[in-house]
Amino acid sequence: MSESSATGQQPKPAAKPRKFQAIKGVRDLLPAETPLWNHVEETAHSVFGTFGFSEIRLPIFEPTELFARSIGLDTDVVSKEMYTFEDFDSSQLLDFRNAIITWQDRSATETLAGPLGIGSQDRFKLFFDLIQIFFTLGRESFAKGIIPRTPENDSFLRLFEGEVQEFQLSIRSHSDAENRKSVDQLKERVRHLKFGDSLTLRPEATASVCRAYIEHNMQQLPQPVKLYYMGPMFRRERPQKGRYRQFYQIGAEVLGGNDSPGIDAEVIDMVMTFFDKLQLQGLELDINSIGCRECRQKYVEVLRVALIKVKDQLGPDSQRRIETNPLRVLDSKLPSEQEIIATLPRMAAHLCADCAEHFAEVKRQLELRGVIYRENWRLVRGLDYYMRTTFEITAQGLGSQNAVCGGGRYDGLVELLGGPPTKGIGFAIGEDRLILSLQESGKAPAARGRDIYLAWMGEKALATAVRAAKDLRAAGYRVELPVTEQKFGKALSQADKLGSRYALILGEDEVSSGEWTLKTLADGSQKKYTESDLLEFLREGRHAAPQQL
Ligand code: HAM
Repeated sequence: MSESSATGQQPKPAAKPRKFQAIKGVRDLLPAETPLWNHVEETAHSVFGTFGFSEIRLPIFEPTELFARSIGLDTDVVSKEMYTFEDFDSSQLLDFRNAIITWQDRSATETLAGPLGIGSQDRFKLFFDLIQIFFTLGRESFAKGIIPRTPENDSFLRLFEGEVQEFQLSIRSHSDAENRKSVDQLKERVRHLKFGDSLTLRPEATASVCRAYIEHNMQQLPQPVKLYYMGPMFRRERPQKGRYRQFYQIGAEVLGGNDSPGIDAEVIDMVMTFFDKLQLQGLELDINSIGCRECRQKYVEVLRVALIKVKDQLGPDSQRRIETNPLRVLDSKLPSEQEIIATLPRMAAHLCADCAEHFAEVKRQLELRGVIYRENWRLVRGLDYYMRTTFEITAQGLGSQNAVCGGGRYDGLVELLGGPPTKGIGFAIGEDRLILSLQESGKAPAARGRDIYLAWMGEKALATAVRAAKDLRAAGYRVELPVTEQKFGKALSQADKLGSRYALILGEDEVSSGEWTLKTLADGSQKKYTESDLLEFLREGRHAAPQQL
């Protein structure tokens, strides 16, 4: 007897299990697209290899400090967009922190303040015990190095000790409302004790390459060291076409050696060669020089003075940047600011002699290589580590997010990260955007189907089909071997749906005669082959050889 009839109640409908979806700004790359991704990546391996670059594979997460120091605290990437988390083993300390944060005063009545309000003490006793244990455990963990022995944690513990005592003393004399306020403050305070290192999902990879260069003493290798990488990066940006929270970059960096402008030109030439090979359409290369630390500093002051004069005509973002980073005002896309920006002083007129000479030589070297560029004095880039050459490449079909590659020189970054004085230059390509542009301009190759579908019927034919599949796969063909028997009509329609080029028909007749039927699905024609003739036919004619994208 069912439960419902025994109790006379209707069974509750089972709760529908949650349907999961990829989170905002991240996506699956499905089989219809992955061949193009692979093609792009294989082309990068081969083109970058011809320029003498070697691949480096980097961790997906790094200490937060690495990015903060390299990219700069005032940049959008560091101040707003990083995925940062604390890395620690689950501990008792965590249990107490959670207990503190979730503690609630559940009493219904208000108790009076003052010496008569003895009830109050009972009411908040559990909370007091929790914070006291939290403090004791915290101090022990700090002493033993179980939590980071940072100055921040040290001063937190000192202050917290006083706060715990103060709470104990004030429970009796404060009203419940006052005590609850202290509880809320203490709940907030316990979050300040850091249980582990702060880590960040990489928003870019230049900082990681510099870290690896230092960590592995690459300055002892023949200089410069030329490295490239590819993989996912993470930034918490507002998702839109061509802008994702998990996106992919293909990048390259040259570290060490001298700062010869020929290296700048070589790196730009490499990325343009790569794009040409992929037949990326509508390419435009913008270049600029933002000078060295000294001349840029002077220019920034000139710019700031000029900006203050027109402050009232600028939007709030640019107004704020006059103080924080005046160069970024030049980046503004706000239509109302464009005319004003056009009148601002330009870096070119303020470059020191060395930087001016360097930039002139970069341009000459680009011309030598036949690389077409456009000078863009407003190209400042959004990351703090750049100096001298900066560049950006846009491509067709991308709407507002049309920068498909950005890069520049960053001499001094390795030093800033604790390494020896080192020159550096590189770029990163937005692979998602590159793929989008290829798809929009019809340069994406069609998805590949199967080469051969094995249409078999009967137990004997299965054994032959299994053997044929093994041989054909070993020869590199894409073979579909249905695991259950199908009528020939069904098999052929399935072969068609899978985009197969041929169906190899293996029935009782074919197996006993040793003559196999090969059907070309495009025109329906068919021909018989012996086993060895078939392989020969495929191999010689390359009729179904793995297609090149
Ligand atoms: P970036 O300009 O921040 O530079 O990024 C390079 C490229 O990555 C952009 O031009 C764009 O194509 C792509 N990209 C950036 N954010 C997103 C996003 N949210 N969604 C899709 N694509 C995106 C850097 O990352 C530097 N590390 C480049 C570099 C290397 N400079 C010197 N060496």
